[in-house]
Amino acid sequence: MSVITCVEDLRVLARKRVPKAFYDYVDSGSYTESTYRDNSRALAALKLRQRVAVNVEGRTTAATMLGQPVTMPVAIAPTGLAGMQWANGEILGARAAEQFGVPFTLSTVSICSIEDVARHTSAPFWFQLYVMRDRGFNNELIARARRAGCSALVVTLDLQINGQRHKDLKNGMTVPPRLTPANLLDMASKPAWALRALRGAKTFGNLAGYAKSGGDVIAISKWVAQQFDPTLNWHDLAAIRKAWDGKLVLKGILDPADARMAAAIGADAIVVSNHGGRQLDGAPSSAAALPAIVDAVGDQLEVWMDGGIRTGQDVVKALALGAKGTMVGRAFMYALGAMGEPGVARMLQILRNELDVSMALMGVRTLDELGRHHLFQYGAARE
Ligand code: FNR
Repeated sequence: MSVITCVEDLRVLARKRVPKAFYDYVDSGSYTESTYRDNSRALAALKLRQRVAVNVEGRTTAATMLGQPVTMPVAIAPTGLAGMQWANGEILGARAAEQFGVPFTLSTVSICSIEDVARHTSAPFWFQLYVMRDRGFNNELIARARRAGCSALVVTLDLQINGQRHKDLKNGMTVPPRLTPANLLDMASKPAWALRALRGAKTFGNLAGYAKSGGDVIAISKWVAQQFDPTLNWHDLAAIRKAWDGKLVLKGILDPADARMAAAIGADAIVVSNHGGRQLDGAPSSAAALPAIVDAVGDQLEVWMDGGIRTGQDVVKALALGAKGTMVGRAFMYALGAMGEPGVARMLQILRNELDVSMALMGVRTLDELGRHHLFQYGAARE
């Protein structure tokens, strides 16, 4: 592909360059994928309000997330196995984000470890935690994140049990990965990817020496059931709040009642999220869930949104609905699989350009001017 003009171009390129099992791992949702599809559809259904003859010179996409200045309010979401899209993917993603001036979140289930990423970056990154049955190991992860200078802990709440993704099962995405003849053939047909993989990190990042499946090859969902703690509750989260003195973000909230609990235990931000449609199939889209949550707790903590964001126009829509920030998961993974570090830089540039042009055409100079009245559905009809 000659010119990359949008995130969709990066997805198409990633599909060509990444082995099928790892591409499908990204480009899929749980069960019927209805929530996965709804995330994009709900954003597409929102219409922006065009305004003209407004002086928009000197406008800016700059904002803050958790008090930290960002060149646009778009953080890279935690995504497992980024290092399987492109060798050392987590390091490359963190470096591109740092260069661009947006936050990077390292997943618990990354290929590069917290220490690997810290060694190759200078700005603090964020660490995402899954709460495991082995709380000693969890405390160790938190201590490692603190030692590495991570400025925020992002605790993900919507994956104590794994929502099944049919493609992963069919492709043999297991713990440890199963090397079927079909997988091997597929990897061999992507020699550039395979060569990089041979040279890249070969550990299972943060879980090296821990992510044992007892010698068996098991489905990801079975591994999650063995390792992740289904008893997780608000007392545990209050204890994590006490133990972590940096910023605390709770991710995976779709209900105002849960958002109020997050505010009550002193979280600094929440991410309205259905895990990119990978968990509760049939849950509402993030864009549909967002307004009621903003209304419930928007004055107590920062409310962010992820799910379905592929363009700067999507970012504007999330902000107009009341989000103070956004996260992108698949846009990051496609960019990484397509072109490595320059791909992630390109993706961020694309989103920012689209955000900037949308602001201009809506007559908006700063992002904090944005409100629901900038959405055609909420605003124009009423005035
Ligand atoms: C994820 N997501 C995720 N979330 C998390 O807290 N920890 C993780 O390890 C992962 N892993 C992961 C892998 C892949 C391949 C995807 C696509 C997603 C969810 C992610 O952080 C985010 O919530 C969604 O990706 C947002 O939706 P979009 O931007 O992908 O539409």
